Amino acid sequence: VEAKEVQITDECKQLLSSLPKEIGWRTSHLYQYQGFWCQPAEIQSIVAFQKHFQSYENDIILATMPKSGTTWLKALAFTVVNRDRFPLSNKHPLLTSNPHDLVPFFEYKLYANNQIPDLTKYNAGGPRVFGTHIPFPSLANTAKKSNCRVVYLCRNPLDTFISSWHFIGSMSPFTLEEAFDMCCKGVIGFGPFWDHMLGYWKESKENPENLLFLTYECLKEDTVFHLKRLAKFLGFPFSMEEERSGVVEKIVELCSFQNLKEMEVNKKGKSIKNFENKMLFRKGEVGDWVNYLSPKMAEKMSTIMKEKLCGSGLKF
Ligand code: A3P
Repeated sequence: VEAKEVQITDECKQLLSSLPKEIGWRTSHLYQYQGFWCQPAEIQSIVAFQKHFQSYENDIILATMPKSGTTWLKALAFTVVNRDRFPLSNKHPLLTSNPHDLVPFFEYKLYANNQIPDLTKYNAGGPRVFGTHIPFPSLANTAKKSNCRVVYLCRNPLDTFISSWHFIGSMSPFTLEEAFDMCCKGVIGFGPFWDHMLGYWKESKENPENLLFLTYECLKEDTVFHLKRLAKFLGFPFSMEEERSGVVEKIVELCSFQNLKEMEVNKKGKSIKNFENKMLFRKGEVGDWVNYLSPKMAEKMSTIMKEKLCGSGLKF
């Protein structure tokens, strides 16, 4: 999600020249920075974020690999924590704004293009909610050390790969098979998958009060149940009265794939550079990979994931 016109500073160019590189999915090269693969503009923003971000105790960070349900998680979390300020009504912000406009990314928005934002007044009146694809070990130290809450949404790598493949579409120089091989080698934006997942997984085991680990598949299967967990974790539990009056179900409905997909802002708008909002809502299903990948390809990924996740307690 890099803006083509982003200026890379000389300092960042120097950093890039010292990093391993591979042919990129979308920009000419991906670089391996702190163990994960990224585009130049992303690395520049991440460095600025790591240097300048100051975390508050009540900050909320929503973390994902690209294409694993970021938009959905942003919609749910934003609605939950702001429901006093923005009750469910025909004036709700999600009816006129894409979730990415309500919950900005550190790397594509706030610290993009070498800017250093003043976040002291951001979202005054509620917790600040941010989104990111940055792996846990590379989050700004202040975010890791403060008591802020991090929610990680993880998705089956095969579905995530297929979702990325469609998202990048004709911009990719690779065939599906070539892209899949790159992905199996770990070379995909913010990958390898396994390291990304494990970083957040380990933290969720060590600090469960600060890191909630969710999966797209579980969230799909029982959205009401996991939304209640999410609300409680974020410090905004639903009251008995809210549960009785169906607030949880109404939030699930508001943020559902079908509902968001049909909104005017998501059919016509453009919240992320180079991509139309409608591209953020493709199928929203679990297991769509079977329509694109051979059993042999799936087996290959499964073997790699088993080996990499072995002993961690995390399974896919
Ligand atoms: P598919 O391409 O498999 O349909 P991200 O938001 O991280 O970019 O992830 C995009 C994926 O999440 C896409 O998957 C998209 O359709 C799906 N998605 C978007 N909004 C959703 C929602 N409200 N509920 C469930 N899935 C959603």
